[in-house]
Amino acid sequence: MNIILLGPPGAGKGTQAARLESDRGMVQLSTGDMLRAAVKSGSPVGLQAKAVMESGQLVSDEIVSGIIGERLDMGDTDKGVIFDGYPRTAAQAEQLDAILAARGRTLDKVIELTVDEDALVERIVGRFTCGNCGAGYHDHFKQPKVAGTCDVCGHHEFKRRPDDNEDTVRTRMAEYRAKTEPIIPIYEARGLLAGVDGMADMDSVSKAIERILDAI
Ligand code: AP5
Ligand code: MG
Repeated sequence: MNIILLGPPGAGKGTQAARLESDRGMVQLSTGDMLRAAVKSGSPVGLQAKAVMESGQLVSDEIVSGIIGERLDMGDTDKGVIFDGYPRTAAQAEQLDAILAARGRTLDKVIELTVDEDALVERIVGRFTCGNCGAGYHDHFKQPKVAGTCDVCGHHEFKRRPDDNEDTVRTRMAEYRAKTEPIIPIYEARGLLAGVDGMADMDSVSKAIERILDAI
């Protein structure tokens, strides 16, 4: 099964993709995570992407589609993939069709997390992750069970993303409205689109996604 999770910054794409990975053995392909790994490693892609990401704008279509194709060719995606944060432009949507067709795969569903933009800023500026295993937390919505200790791996250091500040979030949202929202009707016309209320609590969002996937 190959699905896309669509939604603006902070909609919960990463949160829900991680749950689908552990519940269904699907593989999360987050272009944001891959680009952050490239920035950290200092690779040529990372050097090109760093400043663009910190400004909240989009990295080039060629770079992100290139890393998606390479990742699919690494194997271990037989149980399916969740595209998280990709595609984000009409060109990327076309490139994804070609990438899947070349590998004998099809797109099964596009799930749009619908959210109230004002609440997203709070979600994003409160977000932090474990510095060791990457488990996600939030200042108000999901604190570690023992303060200062990761629930998953017991590590004590946490980190915040450099683009998770209010100014950059506004740019990221404007990019979403201008470049990503216009691809939603394309998938709707193909009968692939399903909407989920992303303002519900995390467990309710997960259940709604499970129901959609069970019906495929
Ligand atoms: P990316 O990493 O994809 O960031 P994004 O799209 O801005 O989305 P986020 O990761 O911020 O949000 P999310 O939906 O995953 O929310 P999360 O689950 O963490 O991209 C970063 C940058 O990389 C881009 O700006 C661009 O420069 C570049 N890039 C990436 N892909 C690209 C592409 N395809 N093309 C070009 N450039 C690209 O949740 C947020 C917080 O809310 C968490 O703290 C979580 O705990 C909490 N939360 C989640 N769900 C709920 C809920 N239901 N109720 C309450 N709290 C919740
Ligand atoms: Mg994310």
